[in-house]
Amino acid sequence: MKRKYILIPIILYFGLLPIIAAQAQEDMQFVDNTVFEKPKRPPARFEHDNHNDISGIEECNTCHHVYADGRLVEDDSSEDQSCSDCHGIDPAGNRPSLRRAFHLNCKGCHQQQGAGPVMCAECHQKPRPLNAAAGGAHQPKPDPQP
Ligand code: HEC
Ligand code: HEC
Ligand code: HEC
Ligand code: HEC
Repeated sequence: MKRKYILIPIILYFGLLPIIAAQAQEDMQFVDNTVFEKPKRPPARFEHDNHNDISGIEECNTCHHVYADGRLVEDDSSEDQSCSDCHGIDPAGNRPSLRRAFHLNCKGCHQQQGAGPVMCAECHQKPRPLNAAAGGAHQPKPDPQP
């Protein structure tokens, strides 16, 4: 008798896992920065699906790429992996460091297309103060290049 009550939540949990995984990037609002040991900045704003819709990016592997022998594999993609699975905190060979990989990818495209944020504080946004009078509107200062 008792076993049934243990099994049901287990079945429900594993049954729902694929749905949770599929929804994860729909709900993504920020790029997770917890792989950086002591993040210096607030996480970068990135509403995954909405971003990719409005910027008209069609291929997942524009960002989730795969290389073999130093060459981009056109029709393969790595969206089942984190950037940090391949990009370490330090660069390795042709592989830029994780921070540089993000900046080259995100800022690189924005610069190239002349659209999308390129200023530090436009991506690394502090959560807005709830009381506008306390925080007021402040203009992001241009930061030095990393
Ligand atoms: C187009 C968006 C974008 C812009 C512009 C940008 N960054 Fe980032 N940056 C990211 C993303 C994405 C990451 C990876 C993880 C995260 O922080 O969310 C990152 C990571 C970092 C990290 C490593 C994590 C940490 O917080 O220690 C630092 C430091 C950093 N950025 C500093 C800067 C500075 C300084 C500038 C301006 C010169 C800048 N970034 C501009 C998107 C951006
Ligand atoms: C503009 C760049 C970009 C494009 C295009 C893109 N993604 Fe992503 N995606 C990201 C970044 C950045 C992350 C976070 C990776 C990390 O934290 O290492 C991510 C994470 C994910 C995740 C993991 C979700 C999570 O919450 O960790 C999935 C699944 C995913 N993307 C699927 C896709 C699919 C499917 C497509 C194509 C329809 C796509 N992505 C296109 C940048 C992109
Ligand atoms: C499966 C491993 C793998 C994953 C996952 C991966 N990369 Fe890479 N990436 C590489 C390799 C290998 C290179 C070096 C390519 C070369 O030999 O020039 C590279 C190069 C880069 C470069 C510089 C060359 C270029 O294509 O612009 C950027 C930027 C970059 N990666 C960003 C990212 C971002 C952002 C993510 C996550 C959305 C990511 N990478 C996920 C393996 C990976
Ligand atoms: C292949 C090109 C490309 C890449 C890669 C890319 N972007 Fe963008 N992004 C754009 C374009 C184009 C726009 C402007 C869309 C518009 O407003 O019409 C944009 C707009 C944005 C905006 C403002 C709109 C919004 O969603 O609020 C943010 C924030 C942003 N990008 C963050 C990022 C981050 C973080 C990354 C890296 C993880 C990234 N982008 C990678 C092309 C790109």
